Amino acid sequence: MVLNYQKNVSLQPFNTFGIPVKAKKFIGAKSSDELIAVLNQNQEEPLLILGGGSNVLLTQDFDGLIVRMESKGIEIIHEDSQQAEVRVAAGENWHEFVMWCLKNDLGGVENLALIPGSVGAAPIQNIGAYGVELESVFDRCEAISLSTKQIEVFTKTDCEFGYRNSVFKNKLKGKYIISNVTFKLNKPPHRTKTSYKGLSEKLKGVSLDILSVAQAVMSIRSAKLPDPKKIGNSGSFFKNPVVSSQVFTALKKQYPEIPNHPAGSGKVKIPAAWLIDCLGFKGYRKNDAGVHRKQALVLVNYGNASGAEIFELAQTIQAEVQKTFDIGLEYEVNIL
Ligand code: FAD
Ligand code: EPU
Repeated sequence: MVLNYQKNVSLQPFNTFGIPVKAKKFIGAKSSDELIAVLNQNQEEPLLILGGGSNVLLTQDFDGLIVRMESKGIEIIHEDSQQAEVRVAAGENWHEFVMWCLKNDLGGVENLALIPGSVGAAPIQNIGAYGVELESVFDRCEAISLSTKQIEVFTKTDCEFGYRNSVFKNKLKGKYIISNVTFKLNKPPHRTKTSYKGLSEKLKGVSLDILSVAQAVMSIRSAKLPDPKKIGNSGSFFKNPVVSSQVFTALKKQYPEIPNHPAGSGKVKIPAAWLIDCLGFKGYRKNDAGVHRKQALVLVNYGNASGAEIFELAQTIQAEVQKTFDIGLEYEVNIL
């Protein structure tokens, strides 16, 4: 198999922050076989997998090999009157997959419309939006072990999904490359989920189906999230913190208007955007690194910010939130 490596490649087109760091070597993998061949040829080199580059902040040149997942294919592998099992290659674009589902009248991912990135990266942080997380439609994934170069199958239980979390961000971090994901999607009649604040209001008076829900989600998202093609960003930079009910009660005394959501086992989730907004960071800008003017959780690159400048801003915000609210914000974006 002939593998076409490129050398000294700018990663600017391959990350949605638009950070112009370089990689020593770069290759696009168009199939699992190509990926395995690449892994067999590059046993020693530091390796980084990229999908759409929409959840990374690149702070320095990468002295190793970047493998970009470019495998394609969406296939119904099994169906009955209620559900279809659909196997999707890691390199497929997530939003295009959602559009394929709508076209084929398969429900379950409509709330996840317009999330950037690849299908292969979706299980890594269990992508979520508007009251739905990937795990609700995930059945299994195939992943190549970096040590054995063999394909292994991970069930939903194996993936240990949580809020913006999975086994691939914890004990298996950097050990597997997801090559295919199999979803279980619903056939009509569809039960839509529209209780997320803002979504139900948007859908008032509209007849509910997977198309109208997807359209409402896309419209809400486009109104508040910056389009990475116009302003560099990686979506929410931090996770929403989950605190104990005691911590929340104390905060509520001081800030009676603090928004919150139940997060199970007596815990409470607080929107990080609100904490950051309270501190006056919304719309803040230093050189080309800033905080989006419509969504305080989204850090942006207005053009020429370096990864280090964005990271410095993230650390400043983190320190201020810690000082004022005594809450440690965790990064959602992968800092590299
Ligand atoms: P990348 O950024 O390329 O990679 C992310 C991480 O996964 C890296 O550590 C990478 O090494 C690893 N990785 C990538 N592919 C694979 C693979 N096949 N196997 C193993 N490891 C892999 N996320 C949400 O959950 N909800 C949202 O609503 C949301 N909104 C967003 C809005 C905007 C405008 C942007 C820019 C981002 C948003 N995100 C959101 C974040 C992002 O879209 C998701 O995290 C997405 O799944 C990242 O996919 P990617 O292919 O771009 O991953
Ligand atoms: N808020 C503010 N100021 C702001 C923005 C929001 O105070 O500038 C407050 C408001 O009270 C609002 C609340 O924060 O009601 C929540 O805001 P929003 O609905 O925009 O959601 P979020 O918590 O900021 C999360 C996800 C998004 C996802 C949306 C919709 C995380 C870290 N982020 O954002 O995911 O699209 O909900 O479900 O969980 C991503 O992961 O990259 C991402 C964009």
